[in-house]
Amino acid sequence: MVPPLFLEPEPGDYILDLCAAPGSKTTQIAQLMKNEGAIIANDVSIKRISSLGFNLQLCGVVNTAITMFDGRKLPLVLKDQFDKVLVDAPCSSSGHLLSKSPPSFTERRIKSLHFLQRDLLLAGFKMLKPKGILVYSTCSIHPLENEAVIDHLLSKENKACIEDFEIKGLRTHLGLTEFEKKTFHSNLRRSVRIYPHDNCTDSFFIARIRKEG
Ligand SMILES: C[S@@+](CC[C@H](N)C(=O)[O-])C[C@H]1O[C@@H](n2cnc3c(N)ncnc32)[C@H](O)[C@@H]1O
Repeated sequence: MVPPLFLEPEPGDYILDLCAAPGSKTTQIAQLMKNEGAIIANDVSIKRISSLGFNLQLCGVVNTAITMFDGRKLPLVLKDQFDKVLVDAPCSSSGHLLSKSPPSFTERRIKSLHFLQRDLLLAGFKMLKPKGILVYSTCSIHPLENEAVIDHLLSKENKACIEDFEIKGLRTHLGLTEFEKKTFHSNLRRSVRIYPHDNCTDSFFIARIRKEG
């Protein structure tokens, strides 16, 4: 998966995976960390957390603890703690264009997700150490779930800075700086869109954000 590669996990890191279940990215992060350091894998859904526990066990992950909290409330107890944070946000999956069952969503659902995504991203950012890296990702192509969410963080947190990041061989597009008469921060160009025809995958949006020291 691409989002964990943008996070560049290293052995010894202390990492928060805020919306982790069922753990496809947590297990990949653990592998990249060589099962060293520590991951907190959090999710709000008890049903999905059972799959997360199963998958961690299946893959032999030993550096991860599971927590079950509403991610929006975690900064009340965990502030400025993590070297790296992944916010793989709940989304409409509007980018799942190649899947067998195409996504269905309404404008209303997208708007309600937008507010949840904004809050989860702000919470994730608060839990990041100074100079730490946060990766925000969705499998949606809707700007309201992507660029508009990052734009909101940039307007609230002056220490948030989007970083350029390239993966050799991966074809990507620049993030949008305007959509339906809304203009986003010009640094949104540094975020990344991946479309099905680029690499024969579903679509993704990814932004890598640094907390300035
Ligand atoms: C896109 S899925 C995560 C997929 C996972 N990262 C993986 O790679 O397997 C989004 C997750 O966010 C969780 N979620 C939704 N609202 C949340 C909240 N308020 N706090 C924490 N997790 C939440 C959902 O239960 C869901 O498991």
